[in-house]
Amino acid sequence: MRIESTSPSLVTFSLFVLVGTLSIEFCNGDLGSFASSVMKPGKAKGQGKDHKEDDPKNLGGLKMKFYESSCPNVDVEKIVETITWKHAGANPSLGAKLLRMHFHDCFVRGCDASILLDPSTKKDSPQVEKQSPPNLSVSGYEVIDEIKTRLEKECRATVVSCADIIALATRDAVSFQFQKRMWEVPLGRRDGRISRASDALDNLPSPSSNFQILRDAFAAKNLDTRDLVALSGAHTLGVTQCGMIATRLFNFTGRGDTDPSIQPAYANTLKAKCRGSFGTVLEMDPDGNSKFFDSHYYKILNQKKGIFESDAALLTDSFSASIVKEFEDDTKFFAAFATSMVKLGGTNVLTGKNEGEIRRQCRFVN
Ligand code: HEM
Repeated sequence: MRIESTSPSLVTFSLFVLVGTLSIEFCNGDLGSFASSVMKPGKAKGQGKDHKEDDPKNLGGLKMKFYESSCPNVDVEKIVETITWKHAGANPSLGAKLLRMHFHDCFVRGCDASILLDPSTKKDSPQVEKQSPPNLSVSGYEVIDEIKTRLEKECRATVVSCADIIALATRDAVSFQFQKRMWEVPLGRRDGRISRASDALDNLPSPSSNFQILRDAFAAKNLDTRDLVALSGAHTLGVTQCGMIATRLFNFTGRGDTDPSIQPAYANTLKAKCRGSFGTVLEMDPDGNSKFFDSHYYKILNQKKGIFESDAALLTDSFSASIVKEFEDDTKFFAAFATSMVKLGGTNVLTGKNEGEIRRQCRFVN
């Protein structure tokens, strides 16, 4: 296995970005019509001035039925769905795990499966993304490995990228609850060859981010305020630990105080749970709702029960707050989430033949 060292990788990455930008500009033929068909249902009235959902640039040269000729007579999407649903049936938290994996992959060097690479065995190699603090609680890697092994066998060749597998499996794990696909996943991502822990720290927003920091972090990935609010709805699923919000609860400004933006009664409930141990697990969407993908996150957010400062921050900007209100409606949330997931999945993707590679094994570069 080889993970490129610092200086050549910087040059390589700059080239990726440059070539990627060019191919994004020129390769949007298939996706123009795809984008409008998928995205129209998500378009709600008054959705705001800065939403770029019809901009095919964000989809990065991906297309539907990408594997039809390279892996003929095999239904790649169905294979991913079957394996993912098998695991989702046994493990209801899989949707949360994979959603977070996909987000953390796409925000760091683009959706290139760089999060899957294992550390090099070479002495003094730099740490990889999965060793970076925000990724230590990411899991679900074995499911991706199982899908990859099966597709290598079925296609009798290395054609399906690990980055596409993450995007498909994420969609399928979230969709399991509905027993139907909740959004389309255009394909054709190639896998990156570089994974550096420091890139994760530099690109992933912290849970103490304010609105401006969040807006800027998302804008840097071509995602606007509506995408930020829609994608934050992923926090309707999954859990965290008391340690993540200890400062918010017990020492917000260094004077033993609590963040005033949390509803006081809810803050007391959380404090009672967390006094025993900062390792106590907390549902992000409380009262048993964290297993269901729905708009409940926005309802509790409007009751000032968002778990992180970054969730509460969505209410501090009037435009963002109006979208939070709009997404209390399941139908509007689902449509917007679908649109924004397609955009997220197109972030800085590698699509040209000379960009990246198709890995034989998802944990190692070829
Ligand atoms: C807006 C900025 C965001 C911040 C600051 C943030 C931060 C966090 C943090 C700190 C956790 C808890 C991790 C832990 O306890 O170990 C978490 C969990 C989670 N995040 Fe986010 N997140 C953000 C956006 C997103 C997005 C865009 C998605 C997906 C589209 C997402 C999906 C998830 C999921 C599903 C979990 C639960 C994971 C699990 O239960 O294993 N987050 N997030």
